Amino acid sequence: MHPMKISVVGGGYVGLVTGTCFAELGHDVTIIEIDPEKVRAINNGKPPIYENGLEDLLKKNAGKRLRAGTGYKPVGGADIVFISVGTPPEPDGSANLAYIESAGTSIGEALKSTSTYCVVVVKSTVPPGTTEKIVRPAVLLASGKTEEEIGFAMNPEFLREGQAVEDFLHPDRIVIGSSDPRAGNRVAEVYTGIRAPVLRTGLTAAEMIKYASNAFLATKISFSNEIGNICKRLGVDVYEVMQGVGPDPRIGPLFLNAGAGFGGSCFPKDVSALISLAESCGEEPRLLRSVIEVNERQPQRMIQLLERHVPSLNGKKIAVLGLAFKDNTDDIRDSRAIPVIEALVRKGARVAAYDPMAIPSMRKLFPDIEYCAKTEDALRGADGCLVMTEWPEFSRLDKEFDLMAQRVIIEGRRILSCDTTEGICW
Ligand code: UDX
Ligand code: UDX
Repeated sequence: MHPMKISVVGGGYVGLVTGTCFAELGHDVTIIEIDPEKVRAINNGKPPIYENGLEDLLKKNAGKRLRAGTGYKPVGGADIVFISVGTPPEPDGSANLAYIESAGTSIGEALKSTSTYCVVVVKSTVPPGTTEKIVRPAVLLASGKTEEEIGFAMNPEFLREGQAVEDFLHPDRIVIGSSDPRAGNRVAEVYTGIRAPVLRTGLTAAEMIKYASNAFLATKISFSNEIGNICKRLGVDVYEVMQGVGPDPRIGPLFLNAGAGFGGSCFPKDVSALISLAESCGEEPRLLRSVIEVNERQPQRMIQLLERHVPSLNGKKIAVLGLAFKDNTDDIRDSRAIPVIEALVRKGARVAAYDPMAIPSMRKLFPDIEYCAKTEDALRGADGCLVMTEWPEFSRLDKEFDLMAQRVIIEGRRILSCDTTEGICW
């Protein structure tokens, strides 16, 4: 493999995992990150986020094939530049592309005086059309160059948090959208060493592939939740039902787990952005709107179920087990625990929260609720308990102490093994 000089703009979840894995593949990588604290942490080999296997790879490569800085100078000597800055949602659900555009301008300025061919690749999830209509003009204008000198590509990520390193190194496909074959070839080359089918498309199709993938997975979850809500009325176990549905290869067994709904940095944001994009081009996105609607109702159902057992929540101690948006991460972005805690606090309940990793993140959002060092502490004296995250350690709870049997426990994730609990859809 011919090692390349790579710059990665944005050292968040996606940028850091991407940069570290490219260094592991043998490339020379610089992460350009606006936040000096993250830069320091990366250079010291300490990931600012928790991600399985990342710390080992970062320690191994930091200071050798990988470094971070705040300035764009390294872009000037790069063969390829990845953009992985955030695309936060606007109040109307559309994606804010200000960081993407300013990254494009800064990259263009850094490429002004170079004489070698460079490819600028968008890795952030962006609305279809962004690379072509926003990034390309920003880079070309600021650099004063032509497309003979700078190529453009869109290479979406399909990384699950918690398994991002594994997903990067063993992907089920690599999608490369490009404006011309030369740019796409360079992106393909950077992945040499990774075995996966490569799909070459145009820029805008690659952007749409990412949105459509996430929207489909989110749809599967909302579908299961709706079936689960119906099953609960009928006294049928939705998990048993989905076990019989999933083996059909046209459906597939994954992402059929009913529960409190989907959170995280991608599904809620990307489906909302796709809705807003559909509207802006004159389409009525009925299905996607329902996907979000079902998802927003699930946390409220948790509260309604709890109130059936504990009619007045005012002054009651309620344990919330699990704060992260899913297990194996400290990330709380759009976690289903957030609307649940909001509702409990509004109703005057005393919330006692426990999570193996996400307490520091949730404390920033809710500084005034009680945080417990152990599940036992959250459960002791509680009038009720809501399980919000599928942490494997919760599956061992009932075996460890009998506190569970005496409490009203509503499961938002099918994870406990005792039969005295009530599930949101089962
Ligand atoms: C983000 C997007 O949210 C996602 O849609 C996309 O697919 C990839 O980028 P993530 O990496 O999880 O995902 O976001 P975040 O952890 O917020 O990281 C973005 C990083 O970019 C932050 O560290 C931020 O400080 C940095 N940044 C932002 C810059 O370095 N420069 C900027 O101009 C703006
Ligand atoms: C997702 C996509 O899987 C990934 O391909 C994309 O690039 C980024 O978004 P991530 O957000 O890390 O990854 O988590 P994921 O494992 O997909 O779970 C998202 C949410 O859906 C979690 O809140 C999880 O609890 C929920 N979920 C997942 C369900 O409610 N039921 C399921 O069956 C699966």
